[in-house]
Amino acid sequence: MYRTNTCGELRLANVGQTVTLAGWVQRSRDLGGMTFIDLRDRYGITQLAFNMEANAPLCEQARKLGREYVIQVTGKVIERSSKNSKIPTGDIELEVTELNILNEAKTPPFTIEDQSDGGDDLRMKYRYLDIRRNPVRNNLIMRHQMAMLVRNYLSDRDFLEIETPMLIKSTPEGARDFVVPSRMNPGEFYALPQSPQQYKQLLMVAGMDRYFQIVRCFRDEDLRADRQPEFTQIDCEMSFVHQEDVLNMFEGLAKHLFKEMKGIEFDKFPRMTWHDAMRLYGSDKPDLRFGMTFKEVTDVVKGHGFGLFDSSELVVGIVAEGCAEYTRKQLDALTDFVKRPQVGAGGMVYIKYNADGSFKSSVDKFYDAEALKAIADKMEAKPGDLMLLLCGPAMKTRVQLCALRLEMGNQLGLRDPQKFAPLWVIDFPLLEWDDETQRYYAMHHPFTAPKPEDEPLLDDPSRWGDIRANAYDIVMNGTEVGGGSIRIHDRVLQNKMFHTLGFTDESAAAQFGFLMDAFTYGAPPHAGLAFGFDRLCSIFAGADSIRDFIAFPKNNAGRDVMSQSPAPIAPEQLEELQIAIKKN
Ligand code: AMO
Repeated sequence: MYRTNTCGELRLANVGQTVTLAGWVQRSRDLGGMTFIDLRDRYGITQLAFNMEANAPLCEQARKLGREYVIQVTGKVIERSSKNSKIPTGDIELEVTELNILNEAKTPPFTIEDQSDGGDDLRMKYRYLDIRRNPVRNNLIMRHQMAMLVRNYLSDRDFLEIETPMLIKSTPEGARDFVVPSRMNPGEFYALPQSPQQYKQLLMVAGMDRYFQIVRCFRDEDLRADRQPEFTQIDCEMSFVHQEDVLNMFEGLAKHLFKEMKGIEFDKFPRMTWHDAMRLYGSDKPDLRFGMTFKEVTDVVKGHGFGLFDSSELVVGIVAEGCAEYTRKQLDALTDFVKRPQVGAGGMVYIKYNADGSFKSSVDKFYDAEALKAIADKMEAKPGDLMLLLCGPAMKTRVQLCALRLEMGNQLGLRDPQKFAPLWVIDFPLLEWDDETQRYYAMHHPFTAPKPEDEPLLDDPSRWGDIRANAYDIVMNGTEVGGGSIRIHDRVLQNKMFHTLGFTDESAAAQFGFLMDAFTYGAPPHAGLAFGFDRLCSIFAGADSIRDFIAFPKNNAGRDVMSQSPAPIAPEQLEELQIAIKKN
């Protein structure tokens, strides 16, 4: 037997037992007569004691062990004279009688400690060493536990986990596809799925009724902290359901995860229409951990000779409670913040509502105390508060103010990662106008159903922007953790939708013919949703980046710095695939 116990297991109750452990040398301390080694495995750390007096050769051998050596030890569990209350095994140690070196190790390029001295790049390059560290390992353990809870929850409710293909037909969904050349069909390509969307709908036509899959998805898009080129969805679909059934089912799943993982119980998740989310928070994924909702003051500020406000479609602001004391430097920094290209505002107006009831603003030239008081009243500001205003075209300004609101939330410590604010955003627009290509795109995907009462608007192109979809997102702490919709199951409506999106009969048939055919054989009404599993894990752990919850993630340039992929392939491989690389 390699080991009788793990390094996280032994307690006072085991004192007197002879056990064998195996693991990695975390560190050793040499105290003359005694040598102590912390032995680590996935389960914890156990202290090993080597006594010079009792067994000098063994102690000498122990002193020579380097960090991360893999060893096996046998010995007696004894009570420690100086206990360590910080670790579960801290009451005991192992009095070693046999030591077997299973493998030597080079000194790792960074310390395998909770607070490592390794930078991001180094840790990614040696990810297998990084995973030996508690924080990373614990994230992966948490991910496993969440996956098990999800599987059991859905399986208990008659969902079947069914795998769908990874080599599929390229369809323009949202992002770019990753494509895979076919050797047997020269000049032709598979795509890796951006999601199993069409297959799960086909499974509904096939009568499978409730489907789920914890599934890898691939999207060739620009990366951010919450985006990876390959990521995992908890992908779900149900037949014979209304929107309410879908929201309740997956709200139930989210609540179950919160209860089991965090011990938190939620009442019903709040719901907000997309329209309200944009109006009040400037975002379709508002962070509801704090208020600071938008206050529109366009009517109140006009007509005072301030040209910028007078000519703006929207003047809107937020109230930072108790921040009237902000210094010039702090206000300048906020102005710089909104002027950064990522935010893109032309500038920022501030109004301090001083504790004594007086006002000081960056627009004192145009607004007297009475006018400023009218703005403060409209914004429901109190003495001691600071008002921050932006102006310009409505949607653009709201999005800019959203960035400022989140920045103020950060500065004021209102975005506590251990606090959770779930939300359903519903009634998304069906279509989104794209200035560049001068056409409408499906905001979610082309299979999303319009709200039945808005369906007639499909016949009036001038109203296409007003059509609402039966689509919903689940948002937590300002992150979209999932989204879905009621699907179109009617062929005629689906055809109409394709036409709206600029497809001809032929191009729709070429792209989606198999799905359209399937719909002629009795498609049930169906709907679904997919959670971003990596995002869900990171939110639950209160972390910013999903990378920490993926065993082997890519960096921001989409590279795996450990295996050095992507990489060129051999000329013979290219030839076999009949692919010619254009040389500059
Ligand atoms: P959607 O495109 O909204 O919907 O994706 C569902 C969820 O997946 C997560 N997600 C990502 N996570 C990490 N990295 C990425 N690059 C990434 N892209 C998306 C998000 C998102 O909410 N087929 C539909 C679902 C449906 O209609 O049932 C779909 O894929 O958390």
